[in-house]
Amino acid sequence: MLDTMLIRDATTDDWPAMWPFMRRIVAAGETFSWDRDVGEEQAREMWFPAPPGRTVVAVDSGGTVLGTANSVRNHGGPAGHIASASFMVDPDHQGRGVGRALGEHIVDRARADGFRAMQFNAVVQSNTRAVALWRSLGFEVLATLPEGFRHPVDGYVGLHIMYRRL
Ligand SMILES: CC(C)(COP(=O)(O)OP(=O)(O)OC[C@H]1O[C@@H](n2cnc3c(N)ncnc32)[C@H](O)[C@@H]1OP(=O)(O)O)[C@@H](O)C(=O)NCCC(=O)NCCS
Repeated sequence: MLDTMLIRDATTDDWPAMWPFMRRIVAAGETFSWDRDVGEEQAREMWFPAPPGRTVVAVDSGGTVLGTANSVRNHGGPAGHIASASFMVDPDHQGRGVGRALGEHIVDRARADGFRAMQFNAVVQSNTRAVALWRSLGFEVLATLPEGFRHPVDGYVGLHIMYRRL
């Protein structure tokens, strides 16, 4: 567990520190439903959604970016009160509480922004660490899309839709 970690809004100045580990996570193809060879520009556009979307980074006391998360309106108009969110922690810094801190932060911010619930659209069933983390933060699995994700090692696995009220 890191004793000094700050979570703050990300700026595009943070991008050069974020992209190398984000690219690693996406290229592994085990947890994200993005094209594994996604281009840098496209990735940056997706990761910095327009307001009310938010993008944050977790940094250590030396300013090193440890992980990042974003939140978005999951739908618009009459369904615009449901948020969604995505998370990536640098594999070199996983297992130290960064993901949990980002999750708590994103949930609190979405609640403060007036969202009524948060829905994760595509949590890979075999990503057991993430599923356990989100459950511990109050999310439940609403449904599982059978064989929704083709994992490079496990083959076709389910994709969970996870949800919690805020
Ligand atoms: C999922 C992810 C965001 C979690 O971030 P993290 O910083 O590693 O998570 P934390 O250190 O906060 O640990 C969260 C839980 O994972 C489990 N965990 C952590 N390290 C672990 C390890 N090495 N092995 C097994 N479980 C582990 C623990 O149960 C921990 O819960 P605890 O707080 O009760 O101990 C991160 O692993 C990640 O970015 N993965 C790749 C992208 C991804 O899967 N994003 C989420 C898609 S839904």
